[in-house]
Amino acid sequence: MKIAQFSRFGFILAAAGSAVGLGNIWKFPYITGEYGGGAFVLVYLLTVAFIGFSIMIAEMFIGYEGKKDCVTSFETLAPQKKSLWKLAGFQGVSGLLIMTFYSVVIGWILNYIVTSFTHLPASVEEAQNIFMGMLKSDPYTQIFYHSVTAIIVTFILTKGIKGGIERLNKFLMPLLMLILGGMFLYALTLDGFSKAWNFMFAFDFSKLNSEAFVTAVGHAFFTLSLGMGAIMTYAASMQKGTNLVKSALWVVFLDTTIALIAGLMLFTFLYQYGATPSKGPGLVFISLPSVFYEMGILGNIFSVLFFIALAFAGLTSAVSLVEPMVQYFIDRFTWSRLKASVLMGSFFYVIGLVALLSNIDGFSSALTFGSKNLFDWLDFVTAAILLPLGGLVMAIFVGFVVPKSQVSALLEPQLGKFFTPWYFSLRYITPIAMFIVILNLIGVF
Ligand code: TRP
Repeated sequence: MKIAQFSRFGFILAAAGSAVGLGNIWKFPYITGEYGGGAFVLVYLLTVAFIGFSIMIAEMFIGYEGKKDCVTSFETLAPQKKSLWKLAGFQGVSGLLIMTFYSVVIGWILNYIVTSFTHLPASVEEAQNIFMGMLKSDPYTQIFYHSVTAIIVTFILTKGIKGGIERLNKFLMPLLMLILGGMFLYALTLDGFSKAWNFMFAFDFSKLNSEAFVTAVGHAFFTLSLGMGAIMTYAASMQKGTNLVKSALWVVFLDTTIALIAGLMLFTFLYQYGATPSKGPGLVFISLPSVFYEMGILGNIFSVLFFIALAFAGLTSAVSLVEPMVQYFIDRFTWSRLKASVLMGSFFYVIGLVALLSNIDGFSSALTFGSKNLFDWLDFVTAAILLPLGGLVMAIFVGFVVPKSQVSALLEPQLGKFFTPWYFSLRYITPIAMFIVILNLIGVF
């Protein structure tokens, strides 16, 4: 079946919409806080520039040349027929696994939009109690909003590339940028801004350890949506003649800028009102709401707008997490889009329910395996292991398996004199870095 195509601008927005997500606004600030700021930010920026950008071009290349779902694209590009390389295409499954907990987190955000209208916590303790109360002892609220998220995402997927994904992004991405931009301008006027700036850009290398390094690399993948077929599947619907390198540059630029803006803004608010940055995953759900309280009525408005922006960012990423497998079942099993979307939606919905319960007192002991509960395992296994593994496989595939002539025919005109360094990085630097990350994570050293 022929895949509908993005407009050029639509592709960039959709890919940027995929990249800009909870990773930028929720995760990036809190891991920056946890690993002490500046030096971590520098490692992240370097990884994005040297590894993330190369892999993004490779992933777009596979999709653009393969023109189909991720499994078929690997199969088509592999020089031998019936090659095992098609198994690499099953990286699309990682997206569904990420989506299980991603949908639950979007659910928390929707809940926070609603409650921010009427109530903000008067202290960090109260904020902590509210968040922990929801997380650990209120399955109903979480199930309700997780269901709402699953329904919205599934509905958009049934509408397809043009009428669903492109439209959603054209609508939500500008609004997201407007809200964040406006709040950032306000943050610029506060005294806390210079402290936030120092925190994020003062490079103190004594705080950097190997764990911080590995986290930065893993996060570069997560935030750029690399390593699970999302960018690949979108690229399969690019118009012929679209410049992959320029598109990749735009996506990386938007993603990085929005992460830095979100980080600077959040830390400004935290410093301004005397909270400390290192608050872990609760940063936007615990520290931030109590800071909004201090701002009075402006705080209510900011809180609603902030969580709306976060929900928008989450939704545009969520569709890209599920679309690869939807496309797979459409292409390979000739399922209708409706059937593929509903079944994939049901899949992540049900596992998401179990993941959600694994945080709830009373269920959590049955759903905890070793050091982590199911929710944390899903996060860890996908972001830390499967994405870098997907990246490693793609780097080797484009670097060594696809004939160089085919790669250079498309990309040399676009990359110009950067073709050679890019190809070198893909063949050697990226695989070695990925390999180190994976070994480190599974505890080899
Ligand atoms: N990049 C998104 C974020 O920062 C998450 C995401 C969407 C993703 N699609 C992906 C991560 C594909 C990895 C692969 O929140």
